[in-house]
Amino acid sequence: MELVGKFYKQFCEYLENHALVGDPQNLYDPANYILGIGGKRFRPIAALLGSHLYDSNMDDALIVAHSIEMFHNFSLVHDDIMDEADKRRAKEATHIKYGIPTAILAGDVMLVEVFRILQKISNQSVSFNLQKIMADIAKLVCEGQQMDMNFETQSEVPILDYITMIKNKTAVLLGAAFKMGAIINGAPEKDAQLLFDYGVNLGIAFQIDDDILDSFGDPETFGKKVGGDIIQKKKTILYLLALKKEKKKLLDYYAKELDNVTGKGIAQHVEEVKSIFIETEALSSAKTLGKEFAQKAMNCIKELNLNEKSKLELQQFHELVLKRSY
Ligand code: IPE
Ligand code: IPE
Ligand code: MG
Ligand code: MG
Ligand code: MG
Repeated sequence: MELVGKFYKQFCEYLENHALVGDPQNLYDPANYILGIGGKRFRPIAALLGSHLYDSNMDDALIVAHSIEMFHNFSLVHDDIMDEADKRRAKEATHIKYGIPTAILAGDVMLVEVFRILQKISNQSVSFNLQKIMADIAKLVCEGQQMDMNFETQSEVPILDYITMIKNKTAVLLGAAFKMGAIINGAPEKDAQLLFDYGVNLGIAFQIDDDILDSFGDPETFGKKVGGDIIQKKKTILYLLALKKEKKKLLDYYAKELDNVTGKGIAQHVEEVKSIFIETEALSSAKTLGKEFAQKAMNCIKELNLNEKSKLELQQFHELVLKRSY
């Protein structure tokens, strides 16, 4: 755990020293706000780990880590607008604090910054390659996010389509973090691809956990609104697995108009849907599915052309990601 902890600290310091400045400054304040209110920093740590596996030089690795965390935070600002989520990292969501128009524009400027940061990589051809990878990933994330919203109005979604959706909206970025980190320190192509596959499978397990936590997380520590996905009619893995066993009841719940339901009524709705997730064993099946993807990820680690110490470091990160409670 030592290395992961060290990278976490190192990245947080780097971030503090690289706040966004510009005129008008109130365009950049929301960006500094979202980047400054915490987060687990799994993606930048993944980039630093990916790079450390091949060389100890951290300068370019920190640039890549910064760019990836900038992208992730841009996606959160826009995601909270799309998901009508008021709370993020136990604080007000960015658009609640700054208003939707400024939050949209701050998100835009963050996305632009992702590429400006990657231009700081000294080797021009590596910099170009990283920007190309990032552009491809950004496109996939947008596609995943649109699929996620399309599913809100679809009562049935094939599990395979759900997996494609979470792979795009969440998992490819974790894969890219490892891959981009590894590339800057000269990883062989086969390893870079295996690290990408590793991150994608771990990212799928991570998003399955995210779906589970959204309904079953502890409201004291979760930092987001528990039950938000149920209220938003998200087609999470819990919903899709429960639907196989309790179609009529679940469809009735998801057909309910919730716009004018507040307070106790909403809390009761959430609790009743959660009971269906438990009774149908959707909760336990989702956990099993998450473990299957985590195992696929572990298999990628085994194939890497690295020494046992390096593999152990990856495994420690892996365990940290999967035992999160927020
Ligand atoms: C939240 O990601 C968005 C998802 C892809 C599920 P994290 O759970 O990594 O959020 P932070 O950065 O730690 O707050
Ligand atoms: C978000 O998925 C994925 C991206 C931000 C691209 P979610 O909507 O499930 O993430 P949370 O739960 O709001 O963090
Ligand atoms: Mg969301
Ligand atoms: Mg979302
Ligand atoms: Mg979620």
